[in-house]
Amino acid sequence: MKKRYVIVGLGSRSKMFSQAILKDYKDEAELVGLCDINMTRIEWHNRNFQEKYGISPIKAYHAADFDKMIAEQKPDKVIITTMDRTHHRYICRAMELGCDVITEKPLTTDAEKLNQIYKTKEKTGRDLTVTFNYRYSPRNTKVKELLHAGEIGDVISVHFEWLLNTRHGADYFRRWHRDKNNSGGLMVHKSTHHFDLVNWWLDDYPVEVFGMGRLAFYGRENAELRGETKFYERCHGSEFAKDDPFALNMEDKGEMQGLYLDAEHEDGYIRDQSVFGHNISIEDTMSVMVKYNKKTVMTYALNAYCPWEGYRVSFNGTKGRLEIEIVESGYVSSSKFDENNPDFNMITDQKPDELSEKITLQKLWEKPQNITWDEGAGGHGGGDLKLMRDVIQGPGDDPLKTAAGSLDGAKSILVGCAANESFKRGMPVIIDELFPLSEYCEEE
Ligand SMILES: NC(=O)c1ccc[n+]([C@@H]2O[C@H](COP(=O)([O-])OP(=O)(O)OC[C@H]3O[C@@H](n4cnc5c(N)ncnc54)[C@H](O)[C@@H]3O)[C@@H](O)[C@H]2O)c1
Repeated sequence: MKKRYVIVGLGSRSKMFSQAILKDYKDEAELVGLCDINMTRIEWHNRNFQEKYGISPIKAYHAADFDKMIAEQKPDKVIITTMDRTHHRYICRAMELGCDVITEKPLTTDAEKLNQIYKTKEKTGRDLTVTFNYRYSPRNTKVKELLHAGEIGDVISVHFEWLLNTRHGADYFRRWHRDKNNSGGLMVHKSTHHFDLVNWWLDDYPVEVFGMGRLAFYGRENAELRGETKFYERCHGSEFAKDDPFALNMEDKGEMQGLYLDAEHEDGYIRDQSVFGHNISIEDTMSVMVKYNKKTVMTYALNAYCPWEGYRVSFNGTKGRLEIEIVESGYVSSSKFDENNPDFNMITDQKPDELSEKITLQKLWEKPQNITWDEGAGGHGGGDLKLMRDVIQGPGDDPLKTAAGSLDGAKSILVGCAANESFKRGMPVIIDELFPLSEYCEEE
């Protein structure tokens, strides 16, 4: 019998799940309900489903009728792709109503909400999956394989730098993410991916975090200090925005317009705010140190205004060193001209020849080796497709344990929550003070 799914939160990310259910796994899965605070956005998806998959509209529910949707549609699983701050409410309610849950990262935005999720999970005994697609990207899997095989011995230290560029990185400063209460800041919203990778790569859990972070580039005050004098609230309808390379044009007659511009009358969700506006409460510059249970130490940096996007990680072990360098986007153009070039990829902001991916293994007393791997097709380095296979069909016999559970969701956000706490206190923070992580990890 087909498994029944509903989705709550019909923004952009929900498409990965709807496509898997309506197309790739349609013989074993069924999408029976859609729920959001914005009905215009749901209608856009229903029109899109009809065009792409030739199906009749799926029953739409306002968020106020979430319980009614569960009662009428009797789903096996609820998929949550809402704004981060609201994840815990739907996770807990869905479990209380007898459903298993699949939630997008981050599991939630702070330790208090995490405690609530764990209490409800224990009370109801329901299953909770957090979708960490980066683990499935072939290059990240390769790193796991090398470390798991002991190629560099025991890992003593890790240095991890993630760069976000002036298009993708800037996007967090245009919409709901810019309010720390909505997203937990980039330490939770974005770095949950990176902290999860490290937990998985090291097969360990974090115990202590010290961090410093500030808003140094985006925001009205920073722009004023650099001598800017022209400001606007949002791109749509602004003359000043026409000269701003950070502006986002939503009048594309496509997804941006349909999902956001044409839907904003319902909920006031403004998707194209100026990144140099007021009221940005998240950081764009973050440096963090993390200690793990087996004593490995990580230094980590995230900067959200770089000319290229990607990451560099190096592992120093008892038998050698492993380095990975990935350029996901080589450069961002300030002009519209490049976007008219047929070779130009709007999503990655670049031509394919600007991509670069490199893994180097160097054992002590030996020359460096370039490591190769099979690249997959699809979003996030092939990660999204493999992730959806595990989510819908269940993980097979995988020695690398790539499928993430709820404890992985907790472990990764807790590094970000502790970093946020450390930014405030100016002191290191012990993770167990926020949530009894070591107890759960030792029981696992
Ligand atoms: N794994 C990844 O690589 C990845 C990528 C993008 C987004 N995400 C995650 O997916 C989620 C959605 O992100 P997005 O980019 O699609 O955002 P979005 O803004 O496009 O969509 C969010 C949707 O949630 C709805 N919503 C907001 N509050 C709600 C509430 N109280 N009840 C019901 N619906 C509500 C909005 O109306 C909107 O339709 C986020 O949690 C984000 O972290 C993950």
